[in-house]
Amino acid sequence: MNSPDRAALPNLGFGLGLRTDHYEAILQESPRVDWFEAISENYMVGGGKPLRWLERIRERYPVVLHGVSLSIGSTAPLDRAHLIQLKALAERIQPAWISDHLCWTGIAGRNLHDLMPLPHTEEAVHHIAARVREVQDFLGRRILLENVSSYVDFAHSTLPEWEFLKSVAEEADCLILLDVNNIYVNSRNHGFDPLTYLRAVPARRVQQIHLAGHSRNGELLIDTHDHPVPEPVWALYAEAVRRFGMVATMVERDDDIPPLKELVAELDRARAIAADSLVAAA
Ligand SMILES: [Fe+2]
Repeated sequence: MNSPDRAALPNLGFGLGLRTDHYEAILQESPRVDWFEAISENYMVGGGKPLRWLERIRERYPVVLHGVSLSIGSTAPLDRAHLIQLKALAERIQPAWISDHLCWTGIAGRNLHDLMPLPHTEEAVHHIAARVREVQDFLGRRILLENVSSYVDFAHSTLPEWEFLKSVAEEADCLILLDVNNIYVNSRNHGFDPLTYLRAVPARRVQQIHLAGHSRNGELLIDTHDHPVPEPVWALYAEAVRRFGMVATMVERDDDIPPLKELVAELDRARAIAADSLVAAA
């Protein structure tokens, strides 16, 4: 690998998740979006319409690839076929970087189609770090791992979530995709101070930030990505920029997807908050 920090990769600015609803509008309107994040698994095929859309958008915008089924925390062997397809897609699209989630998504050949939480233990850190190194060696590049939302704790966890994330990133020598909404959701679900989390994350490894909305189900906050970014998440984002500086930032929306213009307006708010935070931090 090259340098251990994010300085080795570009700061892409302000991006959006690439969603099929917006394919045509992106090409027709050339929106004020600096880059797009494509879900890797939607394009890990040899051809077809979705891949052609992605290639056309890639001609105009930087793209990063974001996976949902690497299952880096599983005890099942890494899925070689998945990695081969991912590498082929990366060679085709030339993404600025590749990310996936710090979670597990399946076992014994079954995909749960959900981002399952991990026990926060030293044993899990070593297990996952070794697998990240294997993935990075295969892809020939450093990957980003994203912190996920969770609704239960493991009784045998010995590390706070932020120490777990930091330890995996340091031992694996990988980068971090910091989801600020997930930090907020978990802070409410598990009862911790989100600023403690931000302070523990190694700034030099934070390559990208996710912003999203959530919903409430009784006592729990659920990471549904079906609402605009709420005020407490914007406030935490402002703190994140003060701590990490200008980091490539993206708004995620996966349900109740509004017209592209609304998401571009949300992204403009992220630009304004980041600019204010940088002035305040100077
Ligand atoms: Fe996210």
